Amino acid sequence: MSDLSGRVALVTGAGKGIGRAVALELARRGATVAINDLTGNNCESTIQAVEAVGSVAVCAAADVSDFAQAEAMIKEIVDACGKLDILVNNAGTTRDNLIIRMAEDEWDLIMRVNLKSAWNCAKAAVRPMMRQRYGRIVNMASVSGIAGQAGQTNYSASKAGLIGFTKALAREVASRNITVNAVAPGFVLTDLTRNLPQQVGESAMAQLNAAIPMGRWAEVEDVAYAVAFFCAEEAGYITGQVLSVDGGMVMG
Ligand SMILES: NC(=O)c1ccc[n+]([C@@H]2O[C@H](COP(=O)([O-])OP(=O)(O)OC[C@H]3O[C@@H](n4cnc5c(N)ncnc54)[C@H](O)[C@@H]3O)[C@@H](O)[C@H]2O)c1
Repeated sequence: MSDLSGRVALVTGAGKGIGRAVALELARRGATVAINDLTGNNCESTIQAVEAVGSVAVCAAADVSDFAQAEAMIKEIVDACGKLDILVNNAGTTRDNLIIRMAEDEWDLIMRVNLKSAWNCAKAAVRPMMRQRYGRIVNMASVSGIAGQAGQTNYSASKAGLIGFTKALAREVASRNITVNAVAPGFVLTDLTRNLPQQVGESAMAQLNAAIPMGRWAEVEDVAYAVAFFCAEEAGYITGQVLSVDGGMVMG
């Protein structure tokens, strides 16, 4: 796959987990990577890992669910690096609960962090991308946004929203040579899912695992490769698509 030398990428929520693996994969392919997370401290180990593979990392600490912070962060990246070619909207979180127990603020927080963050960053990134007539935007959805998941009305809705957002934006910016796609992971072992077996119980977890034809959870790298695919030069005619990385959990 083509190398990304000369490209400038921003990965949100890249301090750990999937975002960190995405940042590293783009760096390995030669991109300069702006590492976003809530604080500079959160970004530090990913920055070191990017530098260790011989690429350039820029710290871009911000709460991307806050419009003003997201806008200022992207302006700083464009000022410092001269452009922004790739935006990976990865920052996300969970507040799982059955709807009868879910508090209103758990709904609001998930919509803000998982859905509005992507809108905030894309709104700021699209202008420089349009000017340069080149861009790659990848949104981190989830199989929960395709198939729905009990206990995740907020999360599933936010991820389904991201898929609609992906398709609408893809149509808006296609003529400017900007692609917008989504990756929908299944289960990936990260801090987000580490306590899932305790949360849902042994038997529910066994049922969920039995629904994975590949018989295993994804590695963070499995997801990172899919993101890198959409970012590659060769994927320039693919837009508005959702690529599941789920071991076959959700098909069709
Ligand atoms: N782990 C899974 O099984 C799984 C499955 C499907 C989708 N996803 C999605 O992948 C993405 C990454 O998940 P993960 O498992 O790596 O989670 P994680 O909790 O390990 O990492 C998420 C990172 O995002 C950061 N973050 C959260 N809110 C932020 C904000 N407002 N601004 C900036 N940074 C913020 C966190 O500080 C953290 O470093 C999320 O969007 C998640 O919904 C994960």
